[in-house]
Amino acid sequence: MDTTNGLEILQHNLLSEVKAFFDSAPPLKDSNEVSEKLKEFIEGFSTSQGDGRAERVVCVTSGGTTVPLEQRCVRYIDNFSSGHRGATSTEYFLKAGYAVIFLYRRGTCQPFCQSLPDDPLLEWFEPTSESNIQVREQHAKAVKRAIMKHHAAVADGRLLKLSFTTIFEYLQILKQIAMETRCLGTHAMFYLAAAVSDFYKPWKDMAEHKIQSASGPLDMQLSQVPKMLSVLRKEWAPLAFCISFKLETDSRILLEKADMALKKYKMHAVVANELSTRKEQVVVVTGNEKVSVRRDKNHPGDDVENPLINLLLERHSTYIEDSDI
Ligand code: PMT
Repeated sequence: MDTTNGLEILQHNLLSEVKAFFDSAPPLKDSNEVSEKLKEFIEGFSTSQGDGRAERVVCVTSGGTTVPLEQRCVRYIDNFSSGHRGATSTEYFLKAGYAVIFLYRRGTCQPFCQSLPDDPLLEWFEPTSESNIQVREQHAKAVKRAIMKHHAAVADGRLLKLSFTTIFEYLQILKQIAMETRCLGTHAMFYLAAAVSDFYKPWKDMAEHKIQSASGPLDMQLSQVPKMLSVLRKEWAPLAFCISFKLETDSRILLEKADMALKKYKMHAVVANELSTRKEQVVVVTGNEKVSVRRDKNHPGDDVENPLINLLLERHSTYIEDSDI
């Protein structure tokens, strides 16, 4: 078997696995609604600049996907991610003028909510009369700032939020986004910060009802989730600028794994981060450089996402310019 043939067979096998994954996934409940929202959102950006060129749109994925173990799900396997990276990055992308499709796990961090108080929601407010309430004075500034910024982004049509919980929902929506953003060509970016399940139980093999503990220890085989990064790059959005993340807990293997992901999935950049230091430092790995990006400790409240997004914006600009030649 020669190399070209070998690669073709691998690609063919991957596409069969991907087809099997989507064929067996429970259909997305609000697929038409998601599709309409996406079309309407992207329409405004495809040729809206004076020169008829597309504006820049980034899809930020955020939070972890779940893998249900029962169809009427009582138990599931979860992937770690608070959603902080995705939510904070979204704020910086918006500030830089990008339109953002924020694909997030329900219940995880949201853009502009970072500075909101930790108190339970109801404790932010107090009644002023029988029929009126107001935000408590000590929280008023933070709540007002969050609401104003969020409202401005949504009202300007620059922020679209779509949610997922399971791996099935996540990958179906990601595919829809990729197909809809194809018209933006190189001006589309994917910033894949979500922690995506590597293993899953196919829907057709899943118990319908709650698995009974009386049946003894649980012995369950999980299938591998096909590596959708390859498919995203090659089939769904071949012109988009794609950034994936690599998370490890062992710093000794982190850069090597990021490098492997870059080459294997043909990403334009891989952001390498270690679990314990992920809010302080990341390394952006591209074909010809490894750039360490750190949070500016001299500026309280600054995040590592600030310099990270600045760097990625520059690289995206270069990518667009080089593709225009
Ligand atoms: O949310 P926070 O608490 O702020 O934490 C942020 C983070 C640590 C979760 C984030 O910075 C991060 O590293 N996200 C990716 C974590 C991860 O799942 O890495 P991975 O090595 O499993 O996956 C690598 C890449 O492949 C990811 O971009 C993932 O979206 C993608 N993937 C993974 C599996 C799969 N079947 N298909 C994929 O496309």
